[in-house]
Amino acid sequence: MKSFDEYVVVVTGAGQGIGYGLCLAFAKAGAKVALNDLDGDLAIAAAHKINEQVCAEAVTPYGFDTAEVAAVRTMIDAVSHKHGRLDVAIANAGLSHFGRFLDYTPEAFDRVTAVNLRGTFFTAQAAARAMIKTGTKSGRLIFMSSVTGNQAYPNLNAYGMTKAGIQQLARVLAVELGAHGITVNAIAPGATVTERTMADDPSYDTNWQGVAPNQRVAQVEDIVETALFLATPQARHITGQTIMVDGGWTLISPIPEATPDIPDTSSKLR
Ligand SMILES: NC(=O)c1ccc[n+]([C@@H]2O[C@H](COP(=O)([O-])OP(=O)(O)OC[C@H]3O[C@@H](n4cnc5c(N)ncnc54)[C@H](O)[C@@H]3O)[C@@H](O)[C@H]2O)c1
Repeated sequence: MKSFDEYVVVVTGAGQGIGYGLCLAFAKAGAKVALNDLDGDLAIAAAHKINEQVCAEAVTPYGFDTAEVAAVRTMIDAVSHKHGRLDVAIANAGLSHFGRFLDYTPEAFDRVTAVNLRGTFFTAQAAARAMIKTGTKSGRLIFMSSVTGNQAYPNLNAYGMTKAGIQQLARVLAVELGAHGITVNAIAPGATVTERTMADDPSYDTNWQGVAPNQRVAQVEDIVETALFLATPQARHITGQTIMVDGGWTLISPIPEATPDIPDTSSKLR
């Protein structure tokens, strides 16, 4: 098990799902964690649950909307001031909103971009400022993208656009922040079993396991382990990258169902 003793970590959108899994894993590995969620009660309950498991006051809840830049800054200033460092910031909060392009409203567009792009951008900015100000030598910024930032997925037009934007933000910030020892990477999960995806579709795991070559859906731990590795000192030379955690889903281009069996070409070149 990795040790993050003394580390100070911020995770947004963490009352449940992937974010919760990240907070639990970092707290178990010895970190002090700031757990944000839009739903303040959920944030408090999640922090309480983790603290009980690790038998320590490792996690502090912060209830606010990450689209509110002032609130993001207040949390990150408070955390870095209290501990005198900030090691890892994970901009995980993201809003999936399905809608046909032809019917998509400006209100839905503004909300999706405010949470996914503005939220990620200003979480990164506040965290990078705090890392530099406190003299943290090897800061880590980790963003939560999606396979939909690489492949076109119908009715996730605005969402996919923001997830592609997040990957580009990781590249640009890797260049801007490299001299400060900060690495910036994104993780692009494929279909992942969480409370939300199972609530949307109770058969989500069985329905989606067939889309990836490895015939499985991701569990939260698959995403968490990737983030934990990116946070380690051993990952210091990896920056500006997006790591697909999708069982190979994005490697595939569909072929026609009527494709005949592959002809035997072993005896002739053609
Ligand atoms: N689950 C998947 O299959 C999947 C696949 C690809 C990418 N992702 C991405 O991973 C991240 C986490 O996904 P998930 O499925 O665990 O999340 P989720 O939808 O279950 O949400 C997790 C938490 O984030 C909170 N949240 C939402 N908007 C927020 C905001 N503006 N400010 C603060 N908190 C907010 C919610 O209240 C919720 O408790 C998201 O960015 C998502 O786009 C998820």
